[in-house]
Amino acid sequence: DKGGHKYFMAKEIGEQPLAIGDTLAEYLREGTPGVTLPEGLDFSAVSRITMVACGTAYYACLTAKYWFEQLARLPVEVDIASEFRYREPPMPEGSLAVFVSQSGETADTLAALRHVAGQGVKVASVVNVPESSIARESDVVLPTRAGVEIGVASTKAFTCQLTVLAAMAVRAAADRGTLTEDRMAQVMAALRAVPGAVNQALSLASDIAGIAAELAEAQDVLFLGRGALFPMALEGALKLKEISYIHAEGYASGELKHGPIALIDPNVPVVVLAPMDRLFDKTVSNMQEVMARGGKVLLVSDGPGLERASDGVWKWLRMPQVDPVFAPIAYAVPVQLLAYHTAVAKGTDVDQPRNLAKSVTVE
Ligand code: F6R
Repeated sequence: DKGGHKYFMAKEIGEQPLAIGDTLAEYLREGTPGVTLPEGLDFSAVSRITMVACGTAYYACLTAKYWFEQLARLPVEVDIASEFRYREPPMPEGSLAVFVSQSGETADTLAALRHVAGQGVKVASVVNVPESSIARESDVVLPTRAGVEIGVASTKAFTCQLTVLAAMAVRAAADRGTLTEDRMAQVMAALRAVPGAVNQALSLASDIAGIAAELAEAQDVLFLGRGALFPMALEGALKLKEISYIHAEGYASGELKHGPIALIDPNVPVVVLAPMDRLFDKTVSNMQEVMARGGKVLLVSDGPGLERASDGVWKWLRMPQVDPVFAPIAYAVPVQLLAYHTAVAKGTDVDQPRNLAKSVTVE
């Protein structure tokens, strides 16, 4: 049942505030301060984290790397499952391995898990299907409560993965005592504010539909972001490719001048994801390099960011103002809506894009 929507993807994008709220309820328990994790997961004994996943789930891991490093001062390595399993990397003592998978059945992720489990490393998994193979073979299971996801392009499962990983990073910071009391209170408030911020971002849908009608004419699109918004740039490009079949690339803003800036011309829209944070001015200067070469920029920022930097951009989208720490979760929404509405404008089969399957159980 598409609940009155044209596609499951639209329904699932719209379900995110609820899905994230349900997921958070699993980790923020009434009457218990801080983040509650399943038994058997304690970050005071962890000295490094290895995260492994495929596709969009891999981008959730890349985002979480910023959180674990910044908040909990834990070194994190992130790998694509198909690379990890054959590289057979060593797992030093104190390693925690985290596998992230909506389906819990992705063949490469499962094989990577088996490789690690064979070495006696603690295995945690973030899965949406609790009875899946990956869940069954893990020491600790951290569920996402996204509900069934039918659209092939992952949306609500992705933001729920981000939510669980954010909660884990906060708990890691608490276990390791890396934040002041004040900062911990702010970060907890930022975590609780995620469903509301995502809900506000959803109100951009009609503005985005208008922009997408023009984006649908493009042959190539670039997505830029810095810091924890860099993985969201990668996700934006993946989503657009997979459902609208428009070629897109995501780059770290600072990497542009090392090659991809050669692609800039008035026919290549550049989507810039830039909440007002400590890296904002750096991203804006990269954006100005694009504009100086005739590139047309879609700036996705908040009120203060737009006030400072929207002069001369092609289009802009006003996001809610949130604590920058978990801003990537809210910024997933415009990225999803851009891909969705562009695909609708092009008339592709949004829920069943060509050549793709929902669960990739072969190598
Ligand atoms: C993209 C997408 C895929 C999946 C990937 C992993 O929108 O959905 O990239 O994220 O195939 O799938 P799971 O999470 O089931 O392991």
